[in-house]
Amino acid sequence: MRRAAARSDGSAWPSGGLPQSPRARRLMTPLLEVSDVVIRFPIHSRIAARLTGQPSSIEAVAGVSFTLEAGSTYALVGESGSGKTTLARAITGLVPIEGGQVDFAGRTISGLSEAALRGVRREIAMIFQDPIGSLSPRLSVRAILAEPFKVHGETADLDGKIARLLDDVGLSPHFAQRYPHQLSGGQARRVSIARALALRPKLVIADEPTAGLDVSIQGEMLNLMRDLQRKFGTTFLMITHNLNVVRHVADRMAVMYLGRIVEEGLTDDIFKAPRHRYTTALLSANLKAEPEAASYVIEAEGETPSLLNRPKGCEFHPRCLFKREVCRTAMPEEQMPSADHRFACHNPA
Ligand SMILES: Nc1ncnc2c1ncn2[C@@H]1O[C@H](COP(=O)(O)OP(=O)(O)OP(=O)(O)O)[C@@H](O)[C@H]1O
Ligand code: SF4
Ligand SMILES: [Mg+2]
Repeated sequence: MRRAAARSDGSAWPSGGLPQSPRARRLMTPLLEVSDVVIRFPIHSRIAARLTGQPSSIEAVAGVSFTLEAGSTYALVGESGSGKTTLARAITGLVPIEGGQVDFAGRTISGLSEAALRGVRREIAMIFQDPIGSLSPRLSVRAILAEPFKVHGETADLDGKIARLLDDVGLSPHFAQRYPHQLSGGQARRVSIARALALRPKLVIADEPTAGLDVSIQGEMLNLMRDLQRKFGTTFLMITHNLNVVRHVADRMAVMYLGRIVEEGLTDDIFKAPRHRYTTALLSANLKAEPEAASYVIEAEGETPSLLNRPKGCEFHPRCLFKREVCRTAMPEEQMPSADHRFACHNPA
């Protein structure tokens, strides 16, 4: 997978691609622009909300903006429940957005009808989290890989296309006859990637692409995605709890907390000098916790607050070890230490 800067730590994780100057990157056309996106889920009827005194909906994504450049890899990180999957599903049109806008390849795709979304869906593919569970158990690999071609009426030379897809992801042609329960976790993940790539999408959204895989298989998967990115110019939006993965494959990253981006920028900059106190807690936590653990053990007080009861001021303040009085009452403004880095914190690192 392409990186903004080559790694020098000698690790076995994939790296590569030519470093680009910030100016060169800014001149590139963004493939995906997410602007002020708000997503709410109803949780109570209005009457029940009035009786319980609770809100009738939760704001799972609360005004998120970021830009994804063509051919790059972008990572979304944050604790469980921070809104990563919801945001990803909204980009593909699986969840409606209530505010803001999503632009893809120069066209606004939020609010499109199902019919209009059909064309977009062949350009944006999603790899779901559970490698075996996300494959239909009663369908053979051949049938699973044939599905996207059939949906889009591209059935000419189907067996040839399936054989090429299997080859692209490093599986031999006889895997076409297998069923999901006959695949290892790594093989199932390869099939998921092959299915996602079937129609040569411009953007692949990968939700926890390495979760549940052994470290060596994780490395293989990331190498595979990097190779496919080089070969086809695919852009990746990756959601992961594994900060090692982020560090080694993502050009840019966003840290989410309670449905908001609290810090965003070049991965190298954020790893070298994280500013928001939630980011610093998250980065130090990953060194202690199991990389694939669903939740981090972070240097912070207490549990993540409920979306039903968002804290006032900085929403991280009840847990923050560095809070000031202002943090309890005023939401911090966004600061930009450089054109490539933004965060919102009253008392940054
Ligand atoms: N369909 C839904 N109805 C109501 N609430 C939902 C729905 N889907 C998600 N949520 C809530 O929205 C919030 C964000 O969930 P989401 O799954 O996007 O988090 P996440 O960051 O992907 O977490 P994880 O790391 O555990 O996958 C959570 O509080 C979740 O309970
Ligand atoms: S704004 Fe205050 S409470 Fe929030 S992360 Fe920064 S220092 Fe901590
Ligand atoms: Mg999720």
